[in-house]
Amino acid sequence: MGHGSARDLSTDLALHSRAFRERLGPGAGLRLFFSPGRVNLMGAHLDYNGGPVMPTAIDRGTFIAARPRSDQRMVLASTLDGQRLEFDLGHIATERSGRWFDYPIGVLIEVLELATDARAGQSRCGLEILFGGNLPVGAGLSSSASICVGLALCLDQCWNLERSRMELVHAALRAERKFVGVQCGIMDPYAVGFARENCLLWLDCKDASLDYLPLDAQRFSIAVADTGVRRALAQGAFNLRVRQCEEAFAGLRRHQEGATCMRDIRLDVFEAHRHELDPVVARRADHVIHEVARTFAARDALMRNDPAGLGVEMVRAHESLRDLFEVSVPELDQLVASASVCDGVLGARLTGAGFGGCAVVLLRKGAEAELARRLEEDFSRRFGAAPAVDFFGGDSGPRELTGAWDGV
Ligand code: GLA
Repeated sequence: MGHGSARDLSTDLALHSRAFRERLGPGAGLRLFFSPGRVNLMGAHLDYNGGPVMPTAIDRGTFIAARPRSDQRMVLASTLDGQRLEFDLGHIATERSGRWFDYPIGVLIEVLELATDARAGQSRCGLEILFGGNLPVGAGLSSSASICVGLALCLDQCWNLERSRMELVHAALRAERKFVGVQCGIMDPYAVGFARENCLLWLDCKDASLDYLPLDAQRFSIAVADTGVRRALAQGAFNLRVRQCEEAFAGLRRHQEGATCMRDIRLDVFEAHRHELDPVVARRADHVIHEVARTFAARDALMRNDPAGLGVEMVRAHESLRDLFEVSVPELDQLVASASVCDGVLGARLTGAGFGGCAVVLLRKGAEAELARRLEEDFSRRFGAAPAVDFFGGDSGPRELTGAWDGV
């Protein structure tokens, strides 16, 4: 496929094109796109504090099969359920429905805005689109950004809009914020849209500047271990953390001229004034300020070709998320403890927001079997069920894949 060490997607995509024909009928002109998911290695709860984050795309994600029509009808379907939605391009829903289709509709609206801008007066053909994928469900690997950025690219290509990657990433972001109604940060669509193989993305959420850090996918592997724990109140607990960080900043900014977000607050300013904050709020600030420093330290480690140095920062980040930010659960702590004593493991921490969900592990290639065995054994002994353990390589970002799809 010409994507270095990325997983060969041809079998999955051939199956997806067959699924397309079974659901939407035969016909020429089928095009296939892949868009990855992402995992964040450092910079926990920093995106909404204006700090740096270090996500990377993974070689699992969303498949999108699209076929142009001769009219203006849109047909949307997914392999995950039997639902199907049809409408004319001139009559797109203006209100969210609360269903999964809100994501593609939001993207459609935003890309059509770009289209009006780009090629005024041209009408767009309708499309039949089938979504599918191989991301573990509910694992916090950003399937929504994967779908939204992937669809933005698919529409751009099918309609020959020639919009830049940045415009498409922002169209995906606006779709989630405006139409779906999720106040997400920039990390996820950027991580998906600007992925490069053998690299972590260095994204500074204060000014949205980005850079790449080397991480050789031939030598290192990323494991995600799912606790299976899902906390019903996680959204509320996440929003509470956002508010506590805002409160910390409101208390500290008076002591540091020019500070615009928590990320700017210096350690000496925090230490001198932490007693003025509510003790819980002070612990949240403590995490953020040190996590910023750890994330820079992790970047320095990678720059001097020392991935083990990144691993050390990951473990410290987990301890801080457990003790200061208080978003871990015993199941996550167990996974991190088990991973940390495994040969070939460089580091581990909870990933995503916390409150259950997954731990991410950075390890040397070849250590996979031993890691999986140990995680499963320790976890089952304590909690009575095995965690789902999955291994990922890196990915080079959303793209169209060429092949003999029409004939499959
Ligand atoms: C969730 C949010 C992200 C980020 C992480 C914590 O996954 O969607 O934007 O804040 O939590 O790092």
